[in-house]
Amino acid sequence: MKRVIGTLVLVSLSLYGSSHKEDERYRIGKAVYEETCISCHGVDGNTNPNMQLVVKPRKLSKTILTQEQSVKIISEGAHYWGAHADIMPAWKYVYDKEQIEAVAYFIAKEFNANRDERVQKLLDESQKVTQNDKKNMLKVGEKIFKRNCSLCHGITGNGKSEYVEKSKSSNIFIYPYNLTRTLLTQEQIFLYAKFGGHYWGTYKDDMPTWKKKYNDIKLKSVAKYVKEKIVQIKE
Ligand code: HEC
Ligand code: HEC
Repeated sequence: MKRVIGTLVLVSLSLYGSSHKEDERYRIGKAVYEETCISCHGVDGNTNPNMQLVVKPRKLSKTILTQEQSVKIISEGAHYWGAHADIMPAWKYVYDKEQIEAVAYFIAKEFNANRDERVQKLLDESQKVTQNDKKNMLKVGEKIFKRNCSLCHGITGNGKSEYVEKSKSSNIFIYPYNLTRTLLTQEQIFLYAKFGGHYWGTYKDDMPTWKKKYNDIKLKSVAKYVKEKIVQIKE
């Protein structure tokens, strides 16, 4: 009996220990967020709409990124990972690793707690790739990329194209990502293309949804092409 009680005490002590550590992480993350991020991303993570920026901040409540990926974007800045502009800078010169991990934890917990289930559900509901589909995916993906995506992302995927240049001299400038540096996984690229940028938290919807034009297998093919043939950066 004594041993059982002893074990129980130990178990509850270690549970207390881990939740205490999480509380501490949350506290540090909240402090960083309120000191710095809130001015652009807003009190509720849904962005501050009054920010006069060329690229408006993202709604962190809608991000497709995992907590680990957020840490990378926060550390190195969005430009490092393919964003055209450098409005979301590298915070690793301002905050240490512990603070950056804490703010990513705070964002995930506070604004985007059901992100993993939301993303998983969309993947589960999507059309499954068959053995037969597999044979042609890269070819199909390349065709779609060259026909559609290259208009904005450029033929090599680096985010430069004539269309983008022209957009700068008009009022409807667009800034596609340099896909050679994206940190998104193949599955995330598929979901991003399927639903478009606005669905995942961008202010404008410059990156359109492709689900009306292409079925899931086609979009999975283009995601495979991007991941295997366009992305250059090794994480
Ligand atoms: C000056 C405004 C500004 C500040 C301050 C700022 N951000 Fe951002 N953030 C942005 C913009 C703009 C983007 C979108 C980048 C792009 O696509 O060019 C962004 C993107 C992000 C993303 C990526 C979201 C996604 O779905 O891709 C994360 C995560 C993020 N910010 C977290 C933070 C954190 C944490 C802080 C505070 C340490 C912070 N930001 C401070 C403007 C800002
Ligand atoms: C009309 C211009 C346009 C076209 C066409 C376009 N995109 Fe985009 N794309 C953008 C812009 C602008 C962004 C920047 C973020 C945003 O606005 O969503 C972007 C962002 C992305 C991202 C997010 C990258 C990241 O690291 O966050 C992916 C993935 C992507 N595009 C894939 C594609 C694919 C695949 C196609 C073709 C099926 C495509 N895009 C066609 C404009 C375009």
